[in-house]
Amino acid sequence: MSFIVAIDGPAGTGKGTITKLLAQKLNLVEIDTGAMYRCITLECIRNNISSENEERIKEILKNIKIELKHINGEQKVFLNGEDVSKKIRTPEVDDLVAVFAALKVVRDKVTPMQRKMGEKDDIIMEGRDIGTVVFPNADVKIFLDCSIEERARRRYKQNLEKDINESYEEVLASMKERHKLETEREIAPLVKADDAILVDSTNMTIDEVVEKIASIIIEKR
Ligand code: DC
Repeated sequence: MSFIVAIDGPAGTGKGTITKLLAQKLNLVEIDTGAMYRCITLECIRNNISSENEERIKEILKNIKIELKHINGEQKVFLNGEDVSKKIRTPEVDDLVAVFAALKVVRDKVTPMQRKMGEKDDIIMEGRDIGTVVFPNADVKIFLDCSIEERARRRYKQNLEKDINESYEEVLASMKERHKLETEREIAPLVKADDAILVDSTNMTIDEVVEKIASIIIEKR
């Protein structure tokens, strides 16, 4: 049986960075599930398919190939053989992904893929519903939270580094909208599992969060 760590929480908590560092430190395979929803969103954008067109989305999902590969210690995301690691992180995908991720057809495809990924390796999987839906029996469940203003501030700074020009107010507004969609959707909403440990990163550095979660994992392992 593999050892499974579930890390859930909203966007902008540093979840991605923290998961990566924990994976390196504790020799776990890192799985970023948001990347999978981002791939599907990108493929629909590229094919001009709206989130309302369930039939066409189903067609796309029939043949879609999403791979998360670990190359030189970095997770790379491949969509039908193409490296889309950067292309799935544009504001265009940011703005639409929560809508596609809320669809039943999409989740019915992605959730079993994620469960399969946890079959053989010891993993640390980050997302929104890992501890509630994907692996309700995960060995360790963490809910990583942070105030929405701080999350928007972090995302705004990251965008500047990537030469993406969006004002803080725009980032905050789109983050609020995404948060609403993620927490209020019918299927697999973002919610803390009863048995998840809450870690609030608002006033913590990345290193402090990593240390805290690492000690929780080590104790359980
Ligand atoms: O973590 P992220 O920002 O890359 O996630 C992208 C989107 O996918 C986000 O709107 C939430 C959604 N998502 C989800 O619904 N379930 C997951 N397990 C992971 C992400």
